Amino acid sequence: LTVDWDTGHYDTGGYEHYLLKEISEQPDTIARTLRGRLDDRFHVAHLGGLNMDARETRSFRRVKIIGCGSAYYSGQIGAQLIEELARIPADAEPASEFRYRSPVVEADTLYVAISQSGETYDTLAAVQELKRKGGRVLGIVNTVGSAIARECDGGVYLHAGPEVSVASTKAFTSTAAAFALLALHLGRVRDLSPADGRRICEGLRALPEQIKEILTQEEHIRELAHKYATSAGMMFIGRVRGYPVAREGAQKLKEVSYVHAEAYPASELKHGPLALIGPEMPTVAIVPDDEMLDKNLTTLGEIRARSGRILMVGHRETDQADDCVIVPKNQNELDPILLSIPLQLFAYHAAVALGRDVDRPRNLAKSVTVE
Ligand code: AGP
Repeated sequence: LTVDWDTGHYDTGGYEHYLLKEISEQPDTIARTLRGRLDDRFHVAHLGGLNMDARETRSFRRVKIIGCGSAYYSGQIGAQLIEELARIPADAEPASEFRYRSPVVEADTLYVAISQSGETYDTLAAVQELKRKGGRVLGIVNTVGSAIARECDGGVYLHAGPEVSVASTKAFTSTAAAFALLALHLGRVRDLSPADGRRICEGLRALPEQIKEILTQEEHIRELAHKYATSAGMMFIGRVRGYPVAREGAQKLKEVSYVHAEAYPASELKHGPLALIGPEMPTVAIVPDDEMLDKNLTTLGEIRARSGRILMVGHRETDQADDCVIVPKNQNELDPILLSIPLQLFAYHAAVALGRDVDRPRNLAKSVTVE
């Protein structure tokens, strides 16, 4: 059982679909997530809703993140941000799995539940299980006053505005931005230097303009979507920071275009899925200009050697790829937010090209409120 949105209250604002409207809103929605939360004096994030003092904030030795679907993938980005900036071991897990495996709940672990709707039953049940066992749970939630927001000890609202299209886009990027704020906050009460704090603050502030720049490439991405939409399937690959981006890109394509898409860590390709690579199975490769660049380029060479076609999303053109989408560079830690956006546009235009019901894909609903 699921609950559908009544879209009657909202309009598409001149866009053909809610999905395109919500993708296009991201310069504003990210700005709203950040508004009033960055402090240029101490290079920290102000997150009043956490309801934790500095001593308590310092006491956590682990962070466990839970959510479903795209919320879970944004949690993977969040876990990497927390490990990189706060140096606290962190990982993400689907809430739907977590709740059933009798999780060990520890007092020195900070639990973070993610939900756009705030009503996803699996995530709510996981939060309730955590609370029952005495866990400290924060929510990263878009919908104010929703069930998950009410159940948590504190949290961060996204302020991204209502998300109508079934496929999550603006909530995904706002969640990643909220995690950057949380990681900055956790980091700056620990060992993250003021210089690194400033670097992240500046990077966050640059995001809205950089997203606008990506959106100007819509026509190029539309042409690529038309070129690849008729493929039997697509592989999405990325390493470390690029991997959750690849997972979310594959999820978007599957959801709205029904094109089969699989995401793999680029490093895992040779352990099995390379057998699938050939002209009929193109690869979308996430290749940020970071310390993984050389390894990623080597992987592109391996795909080409098997006649695989490559669409690269990254920071600089390479002749190893058939097609490239170049996004502006931010700080390495924040790049996943920007790298996700071309993949949203790609999925959208592939769905339009194939005549899909873009905002209401078959078999899916916006919020899954029962088991
Ligand atoms: C995203 O495109 C999907 N529709 C889906 O995976 C969604 O993210 C998931 O069901 C979780 O929803 P929530 O954020 O409202 O909890």
